[in-house]
Amino acid sequence: PRSIYLSRHGESMYNVSGAIGGDSDLSPQGWKYAEALPALIRDNIGDGPLEVWTSTLQRTQQTGSFLPFEKKTWKSLDELDAGVCDGMTYEEIEEKYPEDYESRDEDKFNYRYRGGESYRDVVVRLEPVIMELERQENILIIAHQAILRCLYAYFHGKSQEELPYIKIPLHTLIKISPRAYGCHEERYPLPI
Ligand code: F6P
Repeated sequence: PRSIYLSRHGESMYNVSGAIGGDSDLSPQGWKYAEALPALIRDNIGDGPLEVWTSTLQRTQQTGSFLPFEKKTWKSLDELDAGVCDGMTYEEIEEKYPEDYESRDEDKFNYRYRGGESYRDVVVRLEPVIMELERQENILIIAHQAILRCLYAYFHGKSQEELPYIKIPLHTLIKISPRAYGCHEERYPLPI
């Protein structure tokens, strides 16, 4: 039976400084995760075929760079666009756009960044990815926190209220196996 594997990119330089969005490189810890990923995958997929999907951003491509599988790059897998807040920390956003910060807290699913996107927007742009995913065999998706929350919510039938708060930790491979009713899930954290 086929499985879908989800992973965030390895820790990025922006993750280290607490900034959101951007197109930063992996941190030294993030590169360690990238290097460890091939063995983690090999131990868990057996010999079946696997295709790796990444976003167009550096950090997901770097995370997949040691994997000996066919790769596909999707613009639709790029992280939620934070518009004018791209590159800022949450503290900077709270200081510069206090009202926005509060509205996001009140309705995180529908809040749209100025000049950017909401989780609702991301769910819509992921539709073609999900359509293609449903037709495929084993796929590993290396993407971003908000993107993986949306994909995870799709497979596990999570509500719009829960979706933006789903925990998708760094350096953890999530295996989702669709069953007749619901999905089976396993998580493989990699201690780095
Ligand atoms: O901090 C990493 C990150 O992927 C940001 O690029 C993105 O804006 C954020 O997480 C999404 O998480 P949240 O919706 O909880 O702010």
